[in-house]
Amino acid sequence: MTDNSPRTPEHFFITGGLGCIGAWVVRNLLREGIPVTIFDLASSPHRLKLILTEPELAAIQFLSGDMRDLQAVKAAIQSSQATHIIHLAALQVPSCKADPSQGALVNVVGTVNLFEAARQAGIQHIVYASSVAVYGLSEEYPEGEIDDQAALKPRTHYGVYKQANEGTARIYWLDNGISSIGLRPYTLYGPGRDQGMTSSPTKAMLAAAAQQAYHIPYGGRGGMQYTDDVAKIFIQAARLVFQGAEVLNIRGSVVDMPEIIAAIEAAEPAVKGKITFDPKPLALPAGADDSALRRLFGKLPNTPLNTGVKATVDLFKQALADGRIAL
Ligand SMILES: NC(=O)c1ccc[n+]([C@@H]2O[C@H](COP(=O)([O-])OP(=O)(O)OC[C@H]3O[C@@H](n4cnc5c(N)ncnc54)[C@H](O)[C@@H]3O)[C@@H](O)[C@H]2O)c1
Repeated sequence: MTDNSPRTPEHFFITGGLGCIGAWVVRNLLREGIPVTIFDLASSPHRLKLILTEPELAAIQFLSGDMRDLQAVKAAIQSSQATHIIHLAALQVPSCKADPSQGALVNVVGTVNLFEAARQAGIQHIVYASSVAVYGLSEEYPEGEIDDQAALKPRTHYGVYKQANEGTARIYWLDNGISSIGLRPYTLYGPGRDQGMTSSPTKAMLAAAAQQAYHIPYGGRGGMQYTDDVAKIFIQAARLVFQGAEVLNIRGSVVDMPEIIAAIEAAEPAVKGKITFDPKPLALPAGADDSALRRLFGKLPNTPLNTGVKATVDLFKQALADGRIAL
């Protein structure tokens, strides 16, 4: 495995680029001087506006479109002349639970459409977001952090759809020689994390920035991953010359909920005792082992929890003050 030093100039095509991870991927690429095209159904750039300057925002090519529409995905990839693809567009756990049919259309059919459109455009490598939600409960596995090769036992429609995505990627490798890396994040936190089942720690950070109380509706132990770190890992994966269809865990900081709350209180002491949580853990394993990802990439970006939480609270304070975000 080597770094894919581009023979032609890089151009990244990012589905779901208006979302949380997408915004951070875009920021990292623009700051390297790499052109990006965002393909997204939404139109609000509110997450991008939190973390980009106006000139950076103006440099992005936006293509509005729906992952459920194969022709639209195909036309967008072809017109963008993309050299690299990062596929992030998806509906999150609560949306898939509320409307499983739409969840399947966006997350399952949408991912098939992405691979099919890429195949027709001659793109040979895809990086896409899977999730720790492909696994079951901690008690279904041996003690410790879960290994990439552990049996998949998803407990949500969303997790089942992510498992299907991993299968789709494997078949496009077997049938068409399209290589892929699926990454399985756990809980992302940081500016832009405003929806999804595990967005409440970040919502607590926003409340703290406004010196308000907040109740996190779950507890337990799990992985916390700073948005900027995860974005960098997605970009690195997109640049690998790679044979096969790998799926890899991301670990981040594996912590108990009181440690997250302590980090928030350290970042804003005025909320000491005001950030509370429900002790019931999520239906997920208590942390994911990322040794396969480290073997492939070497050193990984891994911002310490306290540093990432402080950076998030500080950015939220600034954004609240200048009206870029509201509680
Ligand atoms: N955030 C996390 O903690 C986390 C954890 C594990 C996996 N993931 C996965 O990472 C990816 C990105 O997550 P995120 O937090 O940035 O999500 P997000 O919800 O912030 O962003 C998803 C983006 O996809 C877009 N989208 C939804 N339906 C679409 C459609 N039909 N066509 C085109 N665009 C559509 C949305 O408009 C949004 O901008 C997703 O696949 C998610 O399942 C996220």
